[in-house]
Amino acid sequence: MLNNEVLEALETRRSIRAYKPTQITEDELQAVLRAGTFAPTAHGQQSPFIVAVQNAAMCDQLRRMNAEVMGVTTDPYYGAPTIVLVFVPEDNRNGVQDGSCVLQNMMLAAHSVGLGSCWINREAEMFATDEGKGLMKRMGLPDGLRGVGALALGYAETVPSAPKPRKEDYARIIR
Ligand SMILES: Cc1cc2nc3c(=O)[nH]c(=O)nc-3n(C[C@H](O)[C@H](O)[C@H](O)COP(=O)(O)O)c2cc1C
Repeated sequence: MLNNEVLEALETRRSIRAYKPTQITEDELQAVLRAGTFAPTAHGQQSPFIVAVQNAAMCDQLRRMNAEVMGVTTDPYYGAPTIVLVFVPEDNRNGVQDGSCVLQNMMLAAHSVGLGSCWINREAEMFATDEGKGLMKRMGLPDGLRGVGALALGYAETVPSAPKPRKEDYARIIR
């Protein structure tokens, strides 16, 4: 079986659901964000907007807003000191796909530099509210965007368990 560092990273990345409070370094953050900006996008339009939030008060606001959508009081971002949000124009029909590629690139980049990450959902609902729209304005984003998803990002507090076996017939080859 062929192997290299990229293939290895693809197989060893796991979703991390507990983080150390220590903030990641600027270099680590920049590496992750840059990887996001090199994701493929439909027609090369670079439709997504990436917002990395390290401000503690804003992170807490995001934790509360996400928890409210979920109807829980726990932290949906698992205490991660950095929350990375991805938005796309509401009227872009490839927006969700573009944003998903950005999120995946960032998760893999995070793993490759020794960071933990986890895709966290519910940003579509969070940013459809008046509070969410106000927050997008404070982030300096243009009007007309929707949330695609977010990443919890930081140093892993736990060692994740081994991945589930891949389902049978996941991939097939027609020759
Ligand atoms: C679209 C999408 C939404 C997800 N939303 C959440 C979430 O809100 N909270 C969470 O803990 N994990 C979330 N995950 C992570 C998945 O649960 C995780 O990828 C899956 O269990 C497989 O584990 P692995 O990433 O370690 O391989 C999400 C993943 C995707 C792709």
